[in-house]
Amino acid sequence: MYVCLCAGVTSQQVIDAVAAGASNTKQVGELTGAGTVCGRCKNNIRALIAAAPTGTQSLT
Ligand code: FES
Repeated sequence: MYVCLCAGVTSQQVIDAVAAGASNTKQVGELTGAGTVCGRCKNNIRALIAAAPTGTQSLT
């Protein structure tokens, strides 16, 4: 499922980014590009970070 339509990033790509160490939307954006255009998907990215097994929740 696409999380970020602007950058064409899927939820799996976000989960993979969290597994690779990303712990906030900025870091997920750096790894995947998600959330770096219009920003409307950031709440969904935060939810995925919070739900990811290795994720630590951050609102930054
Ligand atoms: S939908 Fe993700 S930056 Fe626009």
